[in-house]
Amino acid sequence: MSKLLTLVFCLMSIAVCARAQDITGLEKIGPVVSFTKGANAVTLNCADGSQVQLTMLAPDLIRVRASFTKPVSTRDHSWAIARDNWDTPRWTLTESPETISITTEEVECVIHRSPLLISFRDAHTHEVINADERPMMYDAKGTLTGMMFDPAAGMFVAAAKKLGFDEHFYGLGEKAARLDKRRGSFVNWNSDTPGYTEGKDPIYQTIPFYLGLERGAAYGIFFDNSYRSYFNFGRSSQERAWFGAEGGEMNYYFFYGPTIKKILSRYAELTGHMPLPPLWALGNQQSRWGYYPDTMVERVVSEYRQRDLPLDVVHLDIDYMNGYRVFTWNPQRFPRPKEMNEQLIKQGVKVITIVDPGVKYQPHSAVAEQAANSRNPELGPKEKSYYVFDQGLEKNYFQHRKDGKLFIPKVWPGDSVFVDYTLPEARKWWGDLHRAYLDNGVAGIWNDMNEPSDFVDQTGKNQSDVISYDEGEKSSHAKNRNVFALLMARATYEGLARLRPDRRPYVITRAAYAGIQRYSTMWTGDTNSTWDSLALNIPMFTTLGLSGEPFVGSDVGGFMGRGDGELLVRSYQVSFLAPFCRNHKNIDSYDQEPWRFGKYYEDIIRKYLKLRYRLLPFLYTTLEEAHRTGVPLFRPLVLNYQNDANTYNLDDEFMIGNDLLVAPVLRPDVTRRLVYLPEGKWYDYWTNKEYKGGSVVSVDAPLETVPMFVRGGSILPLGPEMNYVGEKVSEPSFVVYPDDRGEAATSLYEDDGLSPEYTNGVYRRTALHFSGKQKQIQISVSAPQGTFKPQPRTASFIISTALSPGRVLLDGQTVPRAADGGKGWSKNDGALIIRILDDGRAHKIEIE
Ligand code: GLC
Repeated sequence: MSKLLTLVFCLMSIAVCARAQDITGLEKIGPVVSFTKGANAVTLNCADGSQVQLTMLAPDLIRVRASFTKPVSTRDHSWAIARDNWDTPRWTLTESPETISITTEEVECVIHRSPLLISFRDAHTHEVINADERPMMYDAKGTLTGMMFDPAAGMFVAAAKKLGFDEHFYGLGEKAARLDKRRGSFVNWNSDTPGYTEGKDPIYQTIPFYLGLERGAAYGIFFDNSYRSYFNFGRSSQERAWFGAEGGEMNYYFFYGPTIKKILSRYAELTGHMPLPPLWALGNQQSRWGYYPDTMVERVVSEYRQRDLPLDVVHLDIDYMNGYRVFTWNPQRFPRPKEMNEQLIKQGVKVITIVDPGVKYQPHSAVAEQAANSRNPELGPKEKSYYVFDQGLEKNYFQHRKDGKLFIPKVWPGDSVFVDYTLPEARKWWGDLHRAYLDNGVAGIWNDMNEPSDFVDQTGKNQSDVISYDEGEKSSHAKNRNVFALLMARATYEGLARLRPDRRPYVITRAAYAGIQRYSTMWTGDTNSTWDSLALNIPMFTTLGLSGEPFVGSDVGGFMGRGDGELLVRSYQVSFLAPFCRNHKNIDSYDQEPWRFGKYYEDIIRKYLKLRYRLLPFLYTTLEEAHRTGVPLFRPLVLNYQNDANTYNLDDEFMIGNDLLVAPVLRPDVTRRLVYLPEGKWYDYWTNKEYKGGSVVSVDAPLETVPMFVRGGSILPLGPEMNYVGEKVSEPSFVVYPDDRGEAATSLYEDDGLSPEYTNGVYRRTALHFSGKQKQIQISVSAPQGTFKPQPRTASFIISTALSPGRVLLDGQTVPRAADGGKGWSKNDGALIIRILDDGRAHKIEIE
């Protein structure tokens, strides 16, 4: 019987999906009958009363808003958008009987009047970058209402674009899918999906932003619509890629590159830059559902220290709370959280606590009783009062159903309530509640279950009549579900910033909507301890990076099920370079800390964790680039080599910044693998062996070794080996990898790693240039930018060469040969090392 039900369910789902794919029956927007021209926008009036507004925000950024059969609304609000004050770019308008053309310095937008078709072209070459396949559409006849989450909440809207024969698609945030999304079809509806595998869709997050790439030129489309949305990149048609949503406006932003990096920078400008988290967030993190009591947490930390394994952060999962009541501590398990945290901080370890949105439903007053849902009469005032519930209820901050009843989902505490985070006062209140953690020495907050997950029903149906304040619009769950986590993270981030203005907030989230990078970092939820799940790490991290979320990571070793030493090691060989490196495990699965599978595996894991700390100056410099420019740290090769078609669907290797290429092993019992190296010179990180790029090479990859290559032309800034951030003075060593012309360059970014002062110029950026032509080697260190002054220290330059120098000059003065690793020059292991005092001034080093 149950098999039959499953079959019926599957057939129904297939039917629903099939219908979801078919947008061809939708009503098309009418032809243009007239238009008006404003300072930065053109409004098209259509024969059917529809309106389309094109707004020129920047030479490479045009917004398209369409309203079907009625004028574009004067209300214009999005939780994702960070910037609305754009300096209008120069643009011109020309007309012909058939077309209206808007031209900025970079994009030519040609609007065909009848039928209404928009195409975007390169303003210089006039080549079409992206063009409508048919006019924008709306579901006037209710063709798709049967598949909609809440037909009453909106009408399906869609836009279809011509599919290029060789067009590749990237982005869409967190998808359990490969890098190139061509021929894929995706849904956005934040969903709690434990144990997801490749193809599961949707999962936790909604980032309706994608990139198209054809013939080396890229564009981006951000469909800013929080309703359940659909993206189809040629899955069901050879002609078109389309996107649509179950309500709201047809509202998208068109970005023209042609470089992906430029698009990501504009996207960051539009939806917000990731602020820098504290530097220790790049340290190694350990978690477990659940470490308790406090002595267990202390034991884990002392194991790390005794075993000489680096650790900066330990996480407390839901068991630290008193009966899963957020903003409380369990008096038996954690009787003195402040003292525990102080002890851990002395060992260089910070604590992060999980905070779920479910507030235990615990009425104790007459008011509360009255407000209680009659479904739950048994929940009387049998326990002592819970201040969070009491306050939220009194202030009316919790979500209600349409009929005015309190919405009572079930989460970890059983019956619970959710805060309406669209209310500004509720966000402020929620943020201030974090005093319960900060006052006890907690260093960061982990937001989970914020899809929001409801054990009554994970599809959202139980929440369908929940109403949110939404700036007075009192809108439906259909509109607000996908922004719930964004707003919870915002409340958390703003609360932490208010409570501790001299510290950078550090928030981690599971669910999200576009713009999340302004408030939170993320991890990819409940993965499996399997090789397939590990292989998904790379396309998922790189895709998130291409979707505006640079600070990403996955539970190292996988969350669900039992792994083994080999899987754990290979997993660290991916994550030791991910921004978020945290080993985390389910409550009922086999232990997974680095030592759990024996010394052989532990020793290899130690090697990679130590290397992560050595590479921190490089990682932090690249993270700051992500903060400033929106270009992520953990990159697919296509981001750095978008003219190289060999990179277009390459997702079993990745790059950190521009300079480090890593090709992990993603299958068991494999000790060799093929690696694609793009054009140029490459150095094997371990052996210094040189490779000529533009080819696939076969390299050794025993369990001890993840194949890693450094780009010729780069200088890697390294720091000291440490067991936690701040353990030692960060003395930089610059390792030089010259290109074919003998040149190399880099820059090093540093700041205090803790405070927001970097936003006031309190940082140091030092540029370095190396040139080694014939026998004349020169290194120039520029005068640093910014006002940050590191502690007194030396800086070393490491150049691989068999030659012994005749003489070394620093600013024209002879540098002596060094004794015992002191200042001066020395030779070691085929390398020339020059150590100088880092006095924050420009220098020139010459070697003859
Ligand atoms: C969810 C989280 C997981 C956490 C668990 C208990 O499954 O994704 O990381 O350990 O809840 O809080």
